Amino acid sequence: AGNKTFTMLKPDAVENGHIGAILEQITASGFRIVAMKLTQMTQADAEKFYDIHKERPFFGELVEFMTRGPIVAAILEKENAVEDFRTLIGATNPEEAAEGTIRKKYAASIGENAVHGSDSDENAAIEGAFHFAGREMF
Ligand code: CMP
Repeated sequence: AGNKTFTMLKPDAVENGHIGAILEQITASGFRIVAMKLTQMTQADAEKFYDIHKERPFFGELVEFMTRGPIVAAILEKENAVEDFRTLIGATNPEEAAEGTIRKKYAASIGENAVHGSDSDENAAIEGAFHFAGREMF
């Protein structure tokens, strides 16, 4: 068993029909799915989840985007999960993302960037617990 990260396939990825291809790339890269569901965040959920960004100029846009449709939320397990997953998804801005990364392939812009990945082990645990009950983690 390795350690864990938390991801969301964002509304743009779901709208564009990329759930299957992105999950295939994630599992082919050695991540085990610990928990997963299709869900939609309310405005209150998104404001709480992104509380760290609340003073940023893009906060309103971020909350509006993340609540506009369903997302796939998942907890993933792998050795070095947080860092390896951030490598797999690529830079926040898809124009700066490396060739072959999920954001390079599926993201349209820095705001609508297809996928989320936790930035630390501590945030992975907080974000996973935000979306999943203990009995939903395997
Ligand atoms: P993520 O890193 O998953 O979580 C914070 C999100 O804020 C980030 O993805 C982007 O979707 C969004 N974001 C970051 N910078 C900008 C920006 N300059 N303009 C719009 N959205 C942004």
